[in-house]
Amino acid sequence: MPLMTTKPMFDLAYEGGFAVGAFNVNNMEITQGIIEACAAEKSPLILQISKGARKYAKMNYLRHIILAAVEEYPELPIAIHLDHGDTVDLVQQCINDGFTSVMIDGSHYDFEKNIELSKKATDLAHANGVVVEAELGMLGGIEEDVVGMDAHEYEKNIEKFLTDPEQAADFWKRTGIDSLAVAIGTSHGAFKFKHEAKLAFNRVEQIMKTCPGLPLVMHGSSSVPQEFIDLVNKYGGAMPNAKGVPEDQINMAVTKYGVCKVNIDTDLRLAMTAKIREVFSTKPAEFDPRNYMGPGREAIINMVRRKLHMLNSAGKADVIVKHWEKSGKSLPSYYNAKKLSA
Ligand code: G3H
Ligand code: 13P
Ligand code: ZN
Repeated sequence: MPLMTTKPMFDLAYEGGFAVGAFNVNNMEITQGIIEACAAEKSPLILQISKGARKYAKMNYLRHIILAAVEEYPELPIAIHLDHGDTVDLVQQCINDGFTSVMIDGSHYDFEKNIELSKKATDLAHANGVVVEAELGMLGGIEEDVVGMDAHEYEKNIEKFLTDPEQAADFWKRTGIDSLAVAIGTSHGAFKFKHEAKLAFNRVEQIMKTCPGLPLVMHGSSSVPQEFIDLVNKYGGAMPNAKGVPEDQINMAVTKYGVCKVNIDTDLRLAMTAKIREVFSTKPAEFDPRNYMGPGREAIINMVRRKLHMLNSAGKADVIVKHWEKSGKSLPSYYNAKKLSA
């Protein structure tokens, strides 16, 4: 049962020139699509769940869907992760629900408050064998909305929102986190750039120097492939000017600059939406959900397989499982307490 924390994955990712894809799950078809793609490509994976996903699907349903996926594919290294956790209470709930990893996102607070929140979450998670990701710097999209900023203004002043390398070192030392989400020009959603799509690789290099050994995470890493936008628009959608991070830049961040975890949600939403729109448009009499959710799930499989190659994680499942076995198969206390069978 290789359900694990992200540690054995990140231990190997940097040296191995690959990153682990963290894909957002909201329902059964999305979860199945992701896991089937990873099984076909023999790739490690992180299934991540946002506060919104917990509310939409109800955690007990999601938990059972995910545990079913883990049972179906016992050979795959899988971590279950909280995406953008905002309170210590939520972190506690996720620990109780059997997550192996949590994110605490205090990036919209000032530096000292972010440290205080992240340290509290880290102390709690570590006491339960769970690993922690925190965030420093500000991404566009969801996070600029938090402070009520216009996207143009964000892009114009991007330098001041990027993660500060010296602060990152101080933040790591004072919180004890296991990985850090950095702001290097990515943003959430389907409208990432008004101008040129360009990541700040020099920042990643600088952070690597001030924080040697700290696994770095890239949020907002969907590429919003034009062919999917074209399909959405062709079949009745309206997403003009959508733009993502070019896949070659993500690949470079991983293989050349050592980013270990890459978050992808928007591209899954796009793949599924484009396919369902196509079914509705070309078969107007269709009303069996299996005949549109099924193709939607197939579209997720194809999209995730594409991403696993971009992240260079295809074929890396076995080495991670071996490394995990050598390191004592550590799991959070939830699983030890419940004695889930291997
Ligand atoms: O970064 C955010 C993820 O895309 C999750 O989005 O909060 O709408 O579930 P959500
Ligand atoms: P995208 O919106 O680019 O898919 O980013 C998802 C993400 O960062 C989830 O935390
Ligand atoms: Zn994110």
